[in-house]
Amino acid sequence: MNFQKIIYGLVIASVLTLSCTSSKKIVSTTNRKLSIDMKVDSVLKLMTLDEKVGQLNQYNGFWDVTGPSPKNGQAAKKYENLKKGLVGSMINIKGVKNVSALQKIAVEQTRLGIPLIFGFDVIHGFKTISPIPLAESASWDMEAIKKSAAIAAEESASVGINWTFAPMVDVSRDARWGRVMEGAGEDPYLGSKIAVARVQGFQGDLSSYKNILACAKHFAGYALAESGRDYNTVDVSETTLQNTIFPPFKASVDAGVRTFMNSFNELNGIPATGNAYLQREVLKGDWKFDGLVVSDWGSINEMISHGYAKDSKNAAEIALNAGSDMDMESSAYVENLSELVKEGKVKESLIDDAVKRVLKVKFELGLFANPYKYCDEAREAATVGKNEFQEGVLDMAKKSIVLLKNEKELLPLKKSGQKIALIGALANDKTSPLGSWRIAADDNTAVSVLEGLEKYTGNQLNFAKGADLAVGRTQFIWETKINTTDKSGFEEAIALAKKSDVVIMVLGEHGLQTGEGRSRSELDLPGVQEELLEAVFKVNPNIVLVLNNGRPLAIPWAAEHIPAIVEAWHLGTQSGNAIAQVLYGDYNPSGKLPMTFPRSVGQEPMYYNYKNTGRPTMNETDSVFWSHYIDEKRTPLYPFGFGLSYSNFSYSDLKLSSPSFSKNGKIEVSVQVKNTGKVAGKEVVQLYIRDLIGSITRPVKELKGFEMVELQPSETKTVTFTIDEKMTDYFTANRKWETEAGDFVVFVGTNSNETLEANFSFSK
Ligand code: NOJ
Repeated sequence: MNFQKIIYGLVIASVLTLSCTSSKKIVSTTNRKLSIDMKVDSVLKLMTLDEKVGQLNQYNGFWDVTGPSPKNGQAAKKYENLKKGLVGSMINIKGVKNVSALQKIAVEQTRLGIPLIFGFDVIHGFKTISPIPLAESASWDMEAIKKSAAIAAEESASVGINWTFAPMVDVSRDARWGRVMEGAGEDPYLGSKIAVARVQGFQGDLSSYKNILACAKHFAGYALAESGRDYNTVDVSETTLQNTIFPPFKASVDAGVRTFMNSFNELNGIPATGNAYLQREVLKGDWKFDGLVVSDWGSINEMISHGYAKDSKNAAEIALNAGSDMDMESSAYVENLSELVKEGKVKESLIDDAVKRVLKVKFELGLFANPYKYCDEAREAATVGKNEFQEGVLDMAKKSIVLLKNEKELLPLKKSGQKIALIGALANDKTSPLGSWRIAADDNTAVSVLEGLEKYTGNQLNFAKGADLAVGRTQFIWETKINTTDKSGFEEAIALAKKSDVVIMVLGEHGLQTGEGRSRSELDLPGVQEELLEAVFKVNPNIVLVLNNGRPLAIPWAAEHIPAIVEAWHLGTQSGNAIAQVLYGDYNPSGKLPMTFPRSVGQEPMYYNYKNTGRPTMNETDSVFWSHYIDEKRTPLYPFGFGLSYSNFSYSDLKLSSPSFSKNGKIEVSVQVKNTGKVAGKEVVQLYIRDLIGSITRPVKELKGFEMVELQPSETKTVTFTIDEKMTDYFTANRKWETEAGDFVVFVGTNSNETLEANFSFSK
């Protein structure tokens, strides 16, 4: 009999004892959760302090698991710790062989045989890549988003991973910040719905080998980095935290997310990793989150640079006391916590609480019953990249596309008799569409736009690159330089455009120009792309501009001159097929922007749910003393919620069942939506509310509901929403969520800017 068996025997014996001493009622009402808590307690009792601390330690993969074991340096030390049971989780290990080899060490060589959990950044797919999360959010289609997360879960689970560091639920208002690609955009309501869909998609039923732990990150405020510069200082009021930043996190907790990640940034002077208000008071206190909080990569030790901890030991003390349960790659916990407990600086009860959270998710995943649950080579071979996944990410990619402009009837493209010029380095790129967080996908595995269009054989298609986006190695574009000088390909592209009926130009950002650490100070088309666009326009204005980007871009010239613009983001493995099907009208686009597109970078941070100033509505000719710019309009280029279709939709007859409601009451709001176009299409009907006077000033409007309707040509549907107190409450000057008595406006329409409106009031 090995140790493993002894331990399970002890656990079972101790659980049985607990059960027997419990009252009949408790035993009969014992749910899975309660019994897991009992099992957790019984394992905890068997652990030494060092073993407990070990569970709070997460290491990045530090040696080639299939090669010889490390003999010296940091790797050897980590290897010894692994064998001593001083590691609770590993990050960045993938593949059943590797995962099993490590799990075997944990299970067979450590005293207690507690299994490891394996984390990985499965952000928008594993090997089969779905659209970047910002793109998926443009679908406003919760079922599709959930399914996309479920595909990512199943594929990554098949290679041994059982924990993803997703979804990122940071409400993002500044397009300069590179990580806007990883979130759901600027709106807390839409962001909350998407957070729930993604949590449910990843976690599903955790007892299944197809599901994995989700992780709501980064708690909190990370997206509000000053100047949009990643990792930068965040100073934000409690009102903004509560009303804007927290809702998607809270929604994730309510949806049962099992893990949280804290954040690199400081928040109002205290690094998030060492922030007891965030982790103990709000998350574990107010919201009663009983899952596990992991630090961000090395963020415990980063508190030293923040000027908040004097050394790694002090950082460990601060982080654990503040509620960070697991240390990702700082080694601060494993090296210091036991001593800190002995010195009385950290209570063992807090360590116990953190360890219980780790053990609990391990039980919930079923790893104590079967540590190799995620390790099945045959399943891995049959699962990775399977056709069903390809179909799923293609569907998601089509739903993510937003039609921004369509004049001169350029789109959909005619299917025959046309000479089509395809221009732009990104049009022939099979790596860029994979986006930023696709660390397990191989280069050159996306379908390019060129390949997608080639499947339509009725037209004559010719390609010219026009200009490289970057010079040097493009594989790691952050290591290379954006091409700002080489225009040698312009001539060929211009000549091709001249002799073509329609020009499709695929321009924008490379997939690796967005994401972590990739903030920008400009939001234009990088390099010589704008010049290329304008040069081609001179010889052939029939241009369809297909944008590939991971953030809103400021493209005022294109918005004014180019007749057709398609926002195609970074759409993943099936990118080119999705774009081609939309361009040819085999799929009618229905996406809506989850982030405002500005006219100029100087407008950032820009978002639709801003607040009025004391001088909001003066006329531009009146004077200079109102809130505006002297060199740019103050309005967006494309507002939040904007997106066209090959159908046209008209809105009429906005009706309220009553002009007022009171406590526990409600108002039914209805609107008629008609498809006045020639083809069937889907429309996302959006409802916004404005609270006219508040104890804390309120935004000019806030999304509070949406519904997708599908309409045949000439068909009309009545869309109904219910206004209740949940829709009108906010975190008030009383420091609680409530609806204040007073007047409101409800807006219903096709985007945040084009709406019908009506008034109503609420009385207590
Ligand atoms: C740092 C990132 O901020 C976080 O989102 C990610 O999950 C970790 N690195 C792990 O790779």
